[in-house]
Amino acid sequence: MVREYLQRTIFSHFTGENNFIMNKASPPGNELSQKFQDINEIGIYLHIPFCTRICPYCPYNKEIFREESCHKYVNAVIKEIDNYLPFIQNIPVTSFYIGGGTPTTILTKGIESIINHIYRHLNMKCPVHMESHPNHLTAANLKIIESIGVKYLSIGVEAFQDNHLKTLERPYTVREVINNVERAVNSNFDCVNIDLIFDLPGQSESEIEQAGLEIVKLGVQQVATYPLFRFPYTLLGKQFNKRGNEIITAFRRRRLLQILEEILYSSGYYRSSVWAFTKKGVDKYCSVTVPLYLGFGASGSSYLKDIFYVNTFNVSEYIKAITEGKSPVSLSINLSEQMQMAGWLYWRIYETRFSKSDFFKRFNICFDEKYGSLIEIFNRIGYLNNGNDQINLTDKGAYWLHAFEDLFSIDFINRLWGTSEQNSWPDKVVLLNS
Ligand SMILES: C[S@@+](CC[C@H](N)C(=O)[O-])C[C@H]1O[C@@H](n2cnc3c(N)ncnc32)[C@H](O)[C@@H]1O
Ligand code: SF4
Repeated sequence: MVREYLQRTIFSHFTGENNFIMNKASPPGNELSQKFQDINEIGIYLHIPFCTRICPYCPYNKEIFREESCHKYVNAVIKEIDNYLPFIQNIPVTSFYIGGGTPTTILTKGIESIINHIYRHLNMKCPVHMESHPNHLTAANLKIIESIGVKYLSIGVEAFQDNHLKTLERPYTVREVINNVERAVNSNFDCVNIDLIFDLPGQSESEIEQAGLEIVKLGVQQVATYPLFRFPYTLLGKQFNKRGNEIITAFRRRRLLQILEEILYSSGYYRSSVWAFTKKGVDKYCSVTVPLYLGFGASGSSYLKDIFYVNTFNVSEYIKAITEGKSPVSLSINLSEQMQMAGWLYWRIYETRFSKSDFFKRFNICFDEKYGSLIEIFNRIGYLNNGNDQINLTDKGAYWLHAFEDLFSIDFINRLWGTSEQNSWPDKVVLLNS
């Protein structure tokens, strides 16, 4: 009750809206062409919804890999890209991210055709960032991954203790995953990122310390570390559907993250987002590095200034829609300018640093006039340093301001992804209402 009341009050204060509802509607073609007219750079996201096995905690859109479905999927994605070409072929693409599911499941089974198609037909100004499963990183596969243009590789390591890997049902031992990460680090990538999940059931502070020291020893350029989120629609979420005491959990996670911060800062890493630490001098591995993006594939989502929309999550329905010349978009929402500003601020807080002049360039409104008094309060309580133009969040501020953002985002993800997994074409998804 208190949580819902807070959500509604704060949401309407920042966005000027009482409701946040995505409706069954796809952006019509002619309107879409207008959306690209004054966009001067864009990011693209490609979703590969296949895995060889399903992890019980995973909230992402995925299904078990099948050769036949993969073949059709690759053709459908290429067709979806072609449908956008008239609008986007000249716009510089400055960020390209392949996520999943597990993109390396379809290595040599079509991913190279999609990547080649993208580089041949779009105005590509960036290398490929791609997620991978540790078990796929054989020497031969790493050569293939390099040859298809991947310069930023992420590996889902998740834990450095065998008992925790077992809880997560990850199909490898610590010894095996270390060997595979070492092989990737010794290849020619610009950045190797590893994912680590912390605050696992029964995990101790000394285990986190051990994980931090192992990361440093491995010499990876980046680590992205998330607390274990229990999304109610996942298998793990169904087993643990009781919310623990959220305040105790938040303080425990802060302490665990502090242990990692101490180890990583003293070993030449800096905080590159709320959950990521990157070696100084390395460009960070990141899902989307520009504010506007297009998402291809089942569950791909797109944000084009005043509209946010998502493709159907169902792989067969996605393939069917594209093959029949229909739009794969299942839900969309038009965003008022105030919503766009709140969204901008959300992501800049996530990145932990931003400049007021960027806000002015995007909205033609003075940042201090819009958010100055709030920023001053955060400055006073030590959550950020408020410069003339640059705002930098402190460690304390990054953690607590994002914990506050999670008050909304985890519920929104739950509703949008949870519903879209059950229903390929929902009439609407109510993310928040009064
Ligand atoms: C798409 S997966 C990574 C690539 C590959 N599929 C794998 O599992 O190795 C993205 C990452 O999200 C993180 N993740 C997934 N489910 C999570 C959850 N419930 N809580 C926290 N992090 C999670 C994991 O760190 C995972 O590596
Ligand atoms: S965590 Fe990775 S491998 Fe496991 S189900 Fe999710 S996407 Fe697939």
